[in-house]
Amino acid sequence: MSTAYDAIATWYDHLVRSDSLAGARMLHHLFDLIGPVSGRPICDLACGQGQVARQLAQQGAQVIGVDISRELIAIAQREEANDPLGITYIVDDATTLTALADACVDGAVCNLALMDIPDFEAVFRSV
Ligand SMILES: C[S@@+](CC[C@H](N)C(=O)[O-])C[C@H]1O[C@@H](n2cnc3c(N)ncnc32)[C@H](O)[C@@H]1O
Repeated sequence: MSTAYDAIATWYDHLVRSDSLAGARMLHHLFDLIGPVSGRPICDLACGQGQVARQLAQQGAQVIGVDISRELIAIAQREEANDPLGITYIVDDATTLTALADACVDGAVCNLALMDIPDFEAVFRSV
């Protein structure tokens, strides 16, 4: 299955790393909302190239990153191989989450992605 982000994965990765993505300036608010994660299993849903997953892992969370884009997951996995943080990355659809067992995480984070998923109510159901 090819997804919209597969075609722009390299561009999106550069955009995130360039720090010019407006959402990056709000990430600290996201982490304030999430609170302490150390030792807790957390899913980064629609994780993209893994920017939030890595920050969660650096705070001590056990992170599973899930995204529908194989290309972005491949970039995230390359980063994990180069700088291991113990993150597991999985290709899956956030609207069904068939790859994750029920209640295998304490919480789910979804940054800058619900606007890209037409059936976002399905995302809430699967979470
Ligand atoms: C703007 S990017 C955000 C990526 C990441 N959360 C971040 O903070 O950089 C939106 C992401 O949603 C993913 N996505 C879109 N539809 C999805 C779906 N149905 N299931 C899982 N991921 C999806 C895209 O592949 C893309 O990685």
